[in-house]
Amino acid sequence: MYNLLGEKNIVILSIETSCDETAAAVLSISPPSLQRRGRGTLLPKINTLSSIVKSQISIHKSFGGVVPEVAARAHVKYIRPVVEKALLTAHCPLSTIDYIAVTAGPGLLPSLLVGVEFAKALSFATNIPIIPVNHMLGHLYSPLKNLPLSPSPLPQGRGQGEGVFPIISLIVSGGHTILVLQKNIRDYKILGQTVDDAAGEAFDKVAKMLNLPYPGGPEVSKLANDGDSQAINFPRPMIHDKNYNFSFSGLKTAVLYFIRDKGLRIKNIGLKADICASFQQAVVDVLVSKTMRAVKEFKAKSVSVSGGVSANKKLRDELNLKSKILNLKFFVPPMNLCTDNAEMIGLAAAFMLHNGKKPLSYKKIKANPNMEL
Ligand code: KG4
Ligand code: ZN
Repeated sequence: MYNLLGEKNIVILSIETSCDETAAAVLSISPPSLQRRGRGTLLPKINTLSSIVKSQISIHKSFGGVVPEVAARAHVKYIRPVVEKALLTAHCPLSTIDYIAVTAGPGLLPSLLVGVEFAKALSFATNIPIIPVNHMLGHLYSPLKNLPLSPSPLPQGRGQGEGVFPIISLIVSGGHTILVLQKNIRDYKILGQTVDDAAGEAFDKVAKMLNLPYPGGPEVSKLANDGDSQAINFPRPMIHDKNYNFSFSGLKTAVLYFIRDKGLRIKNIGLKADICASFQQAVVDVLVSKTMRAVKEFKAKSVSVSGGVSANKKLRDELNLKSKILNLKFFVPPMNLCTDNAEMIGLAAAFMLHNGKKPLSYKKIKANPNMEL
């Protein structure tokens, strides 16, 4: 794949199997000679040629959650057809692929192993080097997909990353809640994270208490639309603490006690909707309050949000509104990049390459379920 200057674009095949989505994508990145680093950074231009996600929701629904062994077996079944479809859709045979990016952690070990070992076997057979990617880095970069494609013409010598950093980035998924200070396109620092349940996990558990189907987050937020967010005053844990950590297990327990106290009346759909709306408001209040406090402390120019819970409309709307009031840029991924996908893994790999990270031989790649950001 050549650009107008006759230089070859870098083509990345990315693979994601950390939980219950089998995903593969092909991304085309502008050549390094068209990217500059340091001050006035010119970011890589990234085009998504294909992004295939095979969700296992229908398989896990009857269990009320993800069963690791079942997920791994489904990944084994889907991984080859999903990767083939990604290559075919992109019109990129394996011979055109420069790097294989694969999620190496964190996640469920049996699930991770399928993607990682598949990538290693491909690399062994083709000599294509591997870029192991932290799943959370994929989420972190997912809202910035359109940053390199900014349509506004740049003043001479100015880079497209300018005027954007520092960014306060909130990552909210099923397994993690992390607040990050992104100082520039390469350097970031974790400000805080959850000390117990993740935000998405709390949504899923409350959904279970209300007999809503898995995955619970979208169901709770759908029902919340018909409820009154002020109806029940659930706690906002750690909202006033002087750190950037979160805690959602106390809130979850408060919802459990409320449901228990109401007994049979919980069959009332109006009450269910009020519980969903009030619970959602409590989660959003904590997330937004801590994010905006970090914005002020670190004099951020932008706010970003990512991960499965960033699909939540209430959270997106409130962060967007607060950002507007403070004249900040707000970055949020399109819906298809909120929940797990391989496109964000390819994106993270593109930024890793841009930042000077070297790919590795398949012999050095290992799945790590507890990988830290
Ligand atoms: O990022 P993700 O797909 O997987 C992990 O890396 O964990 O996030 C999945 C989480 C689940 O807990 C799911 O319930 C939650 O994201 N989620 C939502 C919404 N859509 C997905 N939570 C609240 N509101 C939503 N609309
Ligand atoms: Zn995720």
